[in-house]
Amino acid sequence: MKVVVLGSNGQLGSDVVRAFAENGDDVFPLTHSDIEIANGESVASKLRELQPALVVNTAAMHHVENCELKPESAFAVNALGARNLALTARDIGAVLIHVSTDYVFDGGKTSPYEEGDPPRPLSVYGNSKLAGEYFVRATLDKHFLLRTSAIYGKSPCRAKGGLNFIQLMLKLAKERGEVRVVDSEIVTPTSTSDLARQMVALSRCDSYGLYHATAEGACSWFEFAREIFTLTNTIVRLKVAGPNEFPAKVPRPKYSVLENRGLKLLGLNTFRPWQEGLQDYLGVSQSHKAATTR
Ligand SMILES: NC(=O)c1ccc[n+]([C@@H]2O[C@H](COP(=O)([O-])OP(=O)(O)OC[C@H]3O[C@@H](n4cnc5c(N)ncnc54)[C@H](OP(=O)(O)O)[C@@H]3O)[C@@H](O)[C@H]2O)c1
Repeated sequence: MKVVVLGSNGQLGSDVVRAFAENGDDVFPLTHSDIEIANGESVASKLRELQPALVVNTAAMHHVENCELKPESAFAVNALGARNLALTARDIGAVLIHVSTDYVFDGGKTSPYEEGDPPRPLSVYGNSKLAGEYFVRATLDKHFLLRTSAIYGKSPCRAKGGLNFIQLMLKLAKERGEVRVVDSEIVTPTSTSDLARQMVALSRCDSYGLYHATAEGACSWFEFAREIFTLTNTIVRLKVAGPNEFPAKVPRPKYSVLENRGLKLLGLNTFRPWQEGLQDYLGVSQSHKAATTR
């Protein structure tokens, strides 16, 4: 299958390129310098030239604070950009896989969100991504919308710069010996290679629609940090941060766990528990676990 991947040098995009290539597909990676998704002409000319059967969009403006400061830019990329891709995909007869987010929810639930739960974003980022979902659904039948959560991968996240959460925790532990992490936000850390593998599996079927696509299980950022330190045998004093220690500049959902209901109903859910994705990322096995945090 001829597959175009947008945001191909990003954290998720790099693994998506790898996963489709390993699957034997004919992959055309596109970076921001190759295509501007907020520009309809740029999207139309590039995709018409390449004529892919599948377009995978990982490109987005997703730095939450920057989106709040520049709502027009966030909507231009995340909403109209998604519409531009859906319009051209429809014109050339391509399928679109588009990545969305757990931040379309307000976090008011205490059990995992399913695809049918009503979204209610708290931020410009969440609203712009939700608008992108609506544009895709209204424009193109042949779409897969995948909402994911707290992703991490081997390639750096370009929008956030530098280190992912795992690398940051390990760096802070080494430099300071004590790390303080919030336990008030519950998420599902999801490995980008696991998400990319799920995309390949889904792309072989025609059950188009909206899917939640995260690893199994849930944890607070504090619990995520504890698992990182345990798996890496890192000696560190890990403490729960006080309620006002890291005040969020933009409201975030307190609970954004997603249930992969749609994937499970299809019998296509390839995700494993978040701890196993983390073990793979760290290159350690369960047997290396030792109680080293205190
Ligand atoms: N990070 C998370 O925890 C998280 C959680 C849920 C959902 N998501 C979603 O996951 C997706 C991928 O995130 P990621 O961490 O892989 O992001 P990333 O590392 O920042 O990569 C994003 C890629 O998109 C490109 N891009 C940005 N704006 C573009 C535009 N207007 N036109 C064309 N290309 C553009 C970037 O290029 P430049 O850097 O050169 O601009 C970069 O290659 C996004 O849709 C995000 O909303 C992320």
